[in-house]
Amino acid sequence: MSLTNVTTETSIAPLRTKLDQCRASGATVGFVPTMGFLHDGHGSLMRTASERNDVVVASIFVNPLQFAPNEDLDRYPRNLEGDTAIAATNGVDHLFVPTVDEMYPQGNVLTNISVSDLSERWDGVSRPEHFGGVATVVSKLFNIIGPCHAYFGEKDYQQLAIVRRMVTDLSIPVEVVGCPTLREADGLAMSSRNSLLTTEDRAAAVVLRRALDRGMELHGDGETDPERIVAAMTEVVSAEPRARLDYAAAVDPTSIRVPEVLGADARLLIAAWFGTTRLIDNTASTVGGAGQAFTETQQSPTG
Ligand code: PAJ
Repeated sequence: MSLTNVTTETSIAPLRTKLDQCRASGATVGFVPTMGFLHDGHGSLMRTASERNDVVVASIFVNPLQFAPNEDLDRYPRNLEGDTAIAATNGVDHLFVPTVDEMYPQGNVLTNISVSDLSERWDGVSRPEHFGGVATVVSKLFNIIGPCHAYFGEKDYQQLAIVRRMVTDLSIPVEVVGCPTLREADGLAMSSRNSLLTTEDRAAAVVLRRALDRGMELHGDGETDPERIVAAMTEVVSAEPRARLDYAAAVDPTSIRVPEVLGADARLLIAAWFGTTRLIDNTASTVGGAGQAFTETQQSPTG
């Protein structure tokens, strides 16, 4: 962990000038986009960026474009003071914290980036506008910051796949780096939204990790029928009355589609509601890899 003097910038123009100077002097720029209320999952992306780049920029912007009118934009948690401390401890040099006006001065955007196909399933079913908003803001942030490397968590696996594809399709000159999911001691993936859970729902939410573990166990033992794996994951979630399953899936890790027969390497995805809060999680799964399931002693990154 390195403690840096983090500068906070709210405007695009002066940040661009600073970063132009950095690049002109040959410095590499690493970038971590976030929506704030930072936790150690975000911190781990910042640490990786700081180990591998001369200058690290992180953004904090709760992007209205990726929230539907009925979603949790207004209650999305915020804490700039705490965020600045976490950014400084994890090697961030510049924190970009624009207002909605700075990002969308016309009040709306007429230009939307849509990564079709990949955006239409899983989270895209219950959140049809979401990934268009993500792709649009991420491409805008890439244009503002001009990073050499950008760090995204595997926690949001579909988002990572979409950003990778957007960068390839549009030849955006940035290397997208996927980073492992950080978890709480009981296995729940760290998420800013965990703070919105009641105590009872927080305890119940660990069922997501248990369902993923059950799926991994089956696939690890050689089960290649995605439906059977999903049925087993669903059964685990059904046993928790506080959880309402949105989807469970066993997919090909690149296309994120359900194959007829699961390959040796797969990705298990899950989303469920706890009260009014929706949580997502996922894991890599490998035939013969049953021993990798999360245990309570394991607090470090897992797939
Ligand atoms: P946010 O949810 O704040 O997440 C910012 C980054 O942190 C994402 O790349 C996410 O995958 C990663 N992350 C979140 N929880 C993590 C965990 N437990 N372990 C490791 N990484 C984790 O994702 C967004 O913001 C937004 O959609 C954004 C990309 C910033 C566009 O608005």
